[in-house]
Amino acid sequence: MKVTVVGAGAVGASCAEYIAIKDFASEVVILDIKEGFAEGKAMDLMQTASLNSFDTKITGSTNDYSKTAGSDVCVITSGIPRKPGMTREELIGINAGIVKMVSASLIKHSPDTIIIVVSNPMDTMTYLVHKTTGLPKNRIIGMGGALDSARFKYRLAEALGAPISDVDGMVIGGHSDKGMVPLIGKAVRNSVVVSEFLSEERMEQVVQDTKVGGATLTGLLGTSAWYAPGAAVSAMVQAIACDTKKIFPCSALLAGEFGLNDLAIGVPCVLGANGIEKIVEISLTDAEKAKLAESAEGVKKTNGLLEL
Ligand code: LAC
Repeated sequence: MKVTVVGAGAVGASCAEYIAIKDFASEVVILDIKEGFAEGKAMDLMQTASLNSFDTKITGSTNDYSKTAGSDVCVITSGIPRKPGMTREELIGINAGIVKMVSASLIKHSPDTIIIVVSNPMDTMTYLVHKTTGLPKNRIIGMGGALDSARFKYRLAEALGAPISDVDGMVIGGHSDKGMVPLIGKAVRNSVVVSEFLSEERMEQVVQDTKVGGATLTGLLGTSAWYAPGAAVSAMVQAIACDTKKIFPCSALLAGEFGLNDLAIGVPCVLGANGIEKIVEISLTDAEKAKLAESAEGVKKTNGLLEL
């Protein structure tokens, strides 16, 4: 398993680090446009190998895509992150050009690769890669739901006063402050729905805190978060590398599923060696359906800004 991570910024470096620490990939290549930056991050990470007990070989390169040849999975984190007060959607102008160029360069050297898109606005960038590369739709996956669900579980555990390992929950919809749809009605503490433990108001607070999870961190950190995004990507790469068939909410190109068409948005997906192996059409309540439809409208509006 060879994995390429484009962008050696905080998200890309965390992603490479978590992939290495889990020790399932033989090779991780980090690429960046800043001279020497990816090489430096790769070297620093390699110097943790004996301490963190991994054998994954990490190398870095300044924009030489030939080094990425034969990658099984490529992760695109390139582009600018948001600053406090910005929405993810405001990044579209700069990031669309970068993501288009990066995906074309990756596919030139790894025609059979699976691409995971992290750059924001993520659902729209995922749609852009679908529209411009012609890769089969199972091989282009947007990372948002895995991260948003991890943030949801964090907030659920906090509200419940429970260990995170005891809670489960999923966020579908667009990866945006307004568009996320945390499925609070389906969230559980051990197999018991959380409404058994939490008031309506507390559940609504969990939903709101989850939706602004990224924005809250951007306010605190002055830039976009990186540990949880990196961990979310590494969990998805692991599911593909180890063909686990785990379900993650991912931004997938829809053709009628959930009554939606011609957009990429967060829905539950089985991830395995072939990327998105199945979109799982779970049943939604009328209220959940309405929220997903509203979220899809928001994503489509942002997609409309693309020059395709
Ligand atoms: C976040 C970025 C990765 O939500 O979109 O932290």
